[in-house]
Amino acid sequence: MKILVLGSGGREHALVKKLQKEKNVEKVFFLPGNAGCPPEDLLAGSLEDFDRIAHIVRQFSIDLVVVGPEKPLAAGIKDYLEQKVKVPVFGPSQSAAQLEASKVFAYRFMEKAAIPAAKSQVAKSLEEAKKILENFSLPVVIKVDGLAQGKGVSIHQDIASALEKLSDIFEKNIFGDAGRQVLISEFLRGREASLFAICNGREGIFLPVAQDYKRAFDGDEGPNTGGMGSYVPAKHLSEKHIAYAHEKILKPVLEEFHYTGVLYIGLMVHGREAHELSVIEFNCRLGDPEAQCILASLAGELLPYLLWSCGMIEVVPKLQRDGYFAVPTQNLAVVNVVLAARGYPDNPVKGIPISLPSKPVPNIDIIHAGTTYQNGQIISSGGRILNILATANNLVTARALAYDFIEKKLSCYLDFQQLHYRKDIGLDHASPC
Ligand code: AMP
Ligand code: GLY
Repeated sequence: MKILVLGSGGREHALVKKLQKEKNVEKVFFLPGNAGCPPEDLLAGSLEDFDRIAHIVRQFSIDLVVVGPEKPLAAGIKDYLEQKVKVPVFGPSQSAAQLEASKVFAYRFMEKAAIPAAKSQVAKSLEEAKKILENFSLPVVIKVDGLAQGKGVSIHQDIASALEKLSDIFEKNIFGDAGRQVLISEFLRGREASLFAICNGREGIFLPVAQDYKRAFDGDEGPNTGGMGSYVPAKHLSEKHIAYAHEKILKPVLEEFHYTGVLYIGLMVHGREAHELSVIEFNCRLGDPEAQCILASLAGELLPYLLWSCGMIEVVPKLQRDGYFAVPTQNLAVVNVVLAARGYPDNPVKGIPISLPSKPVPNIDIIHAGTTYQNGQIISSGGRILNILATANNLVTARALAYDFIEKKLSCYLDFQQLHYRKDIGLDHASPC
């Protein structure tokens, strides 16, 4: 099969690398891609230009399109390509992608389906928001409705900062259309977990649970980022929690939307009992940097699940657990440490020269994110630059391997004055919820 992967981050490079090794895959194209692949595998183009993508699908006789990020899904790429060039597209329809693209839409659905989530109210103007704010205790969470590149959620410890944010949204219009309405939510306490299910419209199969680290600095300090690291398996989300999430969250989504692709359920785990969890958000795609760890931990091939999700095959390997199905994994732990540019997330330096060891190192994988080619050299082009993955029998060893590789080996190749990374990825794996 010829596969086209859309996107340019670590998640997409991990998808490309995994698929390239699989037996029924003849060629994987990467649009617009990054410098993790040789230039001849990259296709130029914008993810907004659906016509060009349709043209590429025809030109290269693509058999399957895999969409990494949310924006093209929310803009309806699946509906468009399936109709226009009859190619199967891995991902949800435009209407189902609203679960990520509109927080108000997702909240209204959760309310209707009695899905456990933070108590919230919708405000469409500054006056309305000010009144609603009186119903909430501090800290309070403000979320702009639309896609805002991970910057649309803020947590306020005092009313003055909440009012300032609301004025930025409604008066200064800093989020444009994405901020036409906001969700004001109760602050949830607990530990976050990222739960993913591959869905075929009727049924969902869970991937291994991942832990993401959203804050920029150690100890969960600093601004929110796209994610500074991840690991699998994240055991604070227990089998009982997953079975509960299957019954109370995944099943209603499947029934309402006939959901296809990956459903990403961002959870807050409040305690050990099955019901002690709430949905923080839905996303309509794999997480980044969670996908990198998840794909590395799969026991078998990925392609069958993508085809199953698109309705092209009926049966895939799945493990029957108590109350849900899971994709078989290797009994291994994977840690992913993100190397980001100095200044990320607010003001990342760009154009850092990237050179890497040419010989593979056992149990280490390097996944590219914000990298590009310039005059035959690889340079950084984004905030998150590389993902360093280490695999071992347990998290303690995987963590040690990853940091050892970064500190002893990579420091000879990269200018760490220009980079920053968290030193505590995987350190909290044993903490309770
Ligand atoms: P979201 O884009 O909705 O996932 O929010 C981004 C991040 O903000 C989440 O990963 C949480 O860390 C935090 N967050 C969002 N909503 C809440 C909430 N209701 N309570 C506590 N933290 C939240
Ligand atoms: N790691 C968080 C996300 O992909 O949205």
